[in-house]
Amino acid sequence: MKKLTGLICGCFITLVSYGQTHEPEIAIIPAPVTLVKSPGHFILPQNVVIEAGKQPELKLVLTALESRLMAATGRHIIVTNTAPMATIKLSLYYLKDALIGNEGYHLVITPKKIIISANNPAGLYYGVQTLLQLFPPAIESAVAVTQRWVLPCVNITDYPRFKWRGLMFDVARHFFTKADVKQYINQMVRYKYNLLHLHLTDDEGWRIEIKSLPKLTQVGAWNVKKVGYFGTFPPPAPDEPRNYGGFYTQADIKELVQYAKEHFVNILPEIDVPGHSLAAIASYPELSCTPGADKYVVRSGEEIMDWKGKLPLALVDNTLCPANEKVYEFLDKVVTEVAQLFPFDYIHMGGDECAKNFWEKSDAIKVLMKQQNLKTMEEVQSYFEKRLEKIVESKGKKFLGWDEILEGGLAPDAIVMSWRGMKGGIQAAKMGHQVVMSPTIFAYLDYMQGDPAIESHIYATLRLNKAYQFEPVPDSVDAKLIIGGQANLWTEQVYNMRQVEYMIWPRAFAISETLWSPKAKKNWNTFFGRVEEHFNRFNMADIKYAPSVYDPIFSISKNGNDIKVDLSTEIPGLDIYYSFDNSFPDRFYPKYTQPLNVPKEAANLRVITYRGNQPIGRMITLTTEDINRRAGIKH
Ligand code: ACM
Repeated sequence: MKKLTGLICGCFITLVSYGQTHEPEIAIIPAPVTLVKSPGHFILPQNVVIEAGKQPELKLVLTALESRLMAATGRHIIVTNTAPMATIKLSLYYLKDALIGNEGYHLVITPKKIIISANNPAGLYYGVQTLLQLFPPAIESAVAVTQRWVLPCVNITDYPRFKWRGLMFDVARHFFTKADVKQYINQMVRYKYNLLHLHLTDDEGWRIEIKSLPKLTQVGAWNVKKVGYFGTFPPPAPDEPRNYGGFYTQADIKELVQYAKEHFVNILPEIDVPGHSLAAIASYPELSCTPGADKYVVRSGEEIMDWKGKLPLALVDNTLCPANEKVYEFLDKVVTEVAQLFPFDYIHMGGDECAKNFWEKSDAIKVLMKQQNLKTMEEVQSYFEKRLEKIVESKGKKFLGWDEILEGGLAPDAIVMSWRGMKGGIQAAKMGHQVVMSPTIFAYLDYMQGDPAIESHIYATLRLNKAYQFEPVPDSVDAKLIIGGQANLWTEQVYNMRQVEYMIWPRAFAISETLWSPKAKKNWNTFFGRVEEHFNRFNMADIKYAPSVYDPIFSISKNGNDIKVDLSTEIPGLDIYYSFDNSFPDRFYPKYTQPLNVPKEAANLRVITYRGNQPIGRMITLTTEDINRRAGIKH
């Protein structure tokens, strides 16, 4: 009875407040397939009744909805399976609606009711994510906010373009805890990603317990803590403590797999071999072609590769030896345990950036080449990959690798993850193989998002608008073979979760829209408007994101003795102010209208962007040395 009074009261509040509502913004990322707005608003009553059917699998969806609603709105939530007066109705239709498929949903909001329906729980879950984005930004608050909760009336039908919508998390270069991985999952599912690729092994750490090979985590999970610019550190002294890092026990992995499943996410494990294997070799040196007495240590960010030439050269042998039978026994053990831990159909076995210079010098490799009639080092790697594919398939899994596995001949049923542009993916698809597109130029989230003067420094830049241009299906291939795409976060320069968030967002908004929304729906201008709404939400949710899109962009060129500086912005509507006199410009300073000539004696160019009266970009200072260097003037 008490509940009923609350409900009636809630309806009354709805009626009296109806006329005072203002138009809520609709800013859904990724954009739904169809959204039709209808007149009126839904106002969340004091008592929220959720009708949800009896199916046990609905529990996961309900938890997602209930916990967010309760925390932010403080509303009393009643869950029932028959409620004629239900406010929010989750309907699980087992009737097949072919249009929306496994992950799609319908979401209808009327002034009286919210109804989400789908063929499967995953669809309902994504419907809930969309519904939460239709709430005001305060829905992101961890504590109850007193306000009217007004939602627009809409009719949405939505389903994904690709079944593989991945985000990669490199937990090898720096270790991230189980709680960090859960946080990563919590954030990715808001944008309808369904695949977490965990890069579990590399030169800097082996992060997964393999019970039959205990040294992998006793030795391989630990290096020396260094902070600064990774890759430039001096080699650690022998007495520096190797206590930085960590690994997931098998119990941890099971917990993460279960957590991911509850969020409709599959975890793709990656064991990166035969290159990037120094942590394994430090644990079991006999796996290299050059087993020296105790000379291998897990990398702590010192230089171990030479990237200057066309092919990578290893300064320290970080490769497994394809001519050594022990390597295949080792990999069989690893894959056996990995296959048992991860229910996902695929195992990623790396294959990228494998230096061949130590193989070239190895007698064992020479013998192997003769025996197997292998002509090149690429064919040696291909021999290795084909044997590895057999191991993976013998455990009931599908074999996937970076596009280098194409070199020297692709294993018969391999799936290729194309990262060095799209060409590897195109080549593999033309051979009839399935492909996941993940090209550096659009999808590498370790790249800087803005000017190197202000970003944590790495060798390349990927701005938001470029990430938004990602199109996974090239014209020249059978689209069915492109099973999806993903964005990759490598963590050499990423030391903590705040920086993880900074690197992912907002570019992972862009990639999510590419992977979920119809191609024809993509539109940079409307997208960026929505991104800004989500920045607001992230401010509420205490999630960090990069504001780089607001910063000024420098383009510097030389004409004779004159240096010219062009300034621009990634988004329209910003004004740019600058100074050459070492003081900090504001909107009363000269406004940029045409290319700048650098005064001969100037020491610094300082630039800031404004939107109207408000500073919006970060102040960027370039010294004249920076400017000269960018103009190609060497000293
Ligand atoms: C890669 O970025 N080395 C796959």
